[in-house]
Amino acid sequence: MRMNGSQTTSTAGGGASATAIAHPNIALVKYWGKRDERLILPVAGSMSMTLDSAATTTTVRLGGAADAFYLNGKRVDGKAAQRVSVFLELIRERAGSCECATVVSNNRAPTGAGLASSAAGFAALAVAGAAAYGLQLSREQLSALARRGSGSACRSVIDRFAVWHTGADDTSSYATQLSAPEMRMVVCQVNSAEKAVSSREAMLLTRDTSPFWGAWAGHTERVLSRMITACEADDFTALGEIAEAHALQLHALIMSAEPAIRYLEPVSFAIFDVIKQLRESGIECYATADAGPNVVVITRPRDTVVVSAKLAEFGAVHTAAPGRGAYLSDNHLTVPECHA
Ligand code: PMV
Repeated sequence: MRMNGSQTTSTAGGGASATAIAHPNIALVKYWGKRDERLILPVAGSMSMTLDSAATTTTVRLGGAADAFYLNGKRVDGKAAQRVSVFLELIRERAGSCECATVVSNNRAPTGAGLASSAAGFAALAVAGAAAYGLQLSREQLSALARRGSGSACRSVIDRFAVWHTGADDTSSYATQLSAPEMRMVVCQVNSAEKAVSSREAMLLTRDTSPFWGAWAGHTERVLSRMITACEADDFTALGEIAEAHALQLHALIMSAEPAIRYLEPVSFAIFDVIKQLRESGIECYATADAGPNVVVITRPRDTVVVSAKLAEFGAVHTAAPGRGAYLSDNHLTVPECHA
């Protein structure tokens, strides 16, 4: 079956199947906290850049007696597999289908290390799953669907730069594109271990225990509107200053939970310091970090080489440009040999 021109589902080897590719996104205005846990509606809007690196490729193939999930060549059971099944159930409800599916996914970013692997994962699963089950959805609808898997995934459906709108309900909380100053992100991976506290749990603990929680949503909405103004004015300096300040505010908020959660490590702070020094020496760059110790540096394209060289002493470094939102592909993955 062919959908929307080049977007393809195939029926080779049994049930209908579709494959999608998605990339992580890194927030410039952070999402932290839900006003509805089940629907994953955020307490405030957020904004991000979709990367052109660390792709996740996911194939959804209909058929079988139960859902099955394979990640990076291995069968996955337990919580992670259940999360995939719950998500497929949403698609099945909308498609009026009760067919199970096998999901095969390859992910080039470390899983659960605060490098947005779940954003790329659920964006790819939403796009591939919708196509495999024959749903014709708009970009906004795909973004809203991806949000139900992992909030920030709604932004990885969007090309280049995305604003996630809080919305009023399940259908109106999705991300849309905005234009932003020409920039790159230099990702410095200081630790790729899976984080001890998931962002989902950490958000709940922050909401329930931080004395600063009451100020967070309103503040973030004001920061987002300043960020949108900076983007409209093509103002790289304002974008960088707003992004770095909001990242540090997020981590201060998370650290104010009881018991405290600390995602940033001493080496992460050392990188923030080095970035400040680089700025003082005339190279304009700014640091940010999601829910993990890895630091992402926002630079102008011409400064990526200098910034990368400086960061190389702290960890593995790669540069990302603004990338494509989740899209369908013909390169279907097969169930890993050992499990076939
Ligand atoms: O979408 P989640 O549940 O993985 O949460 C992501 C939270 C942050 O990465 C810290 C911030 C963001 O906006 O991506």
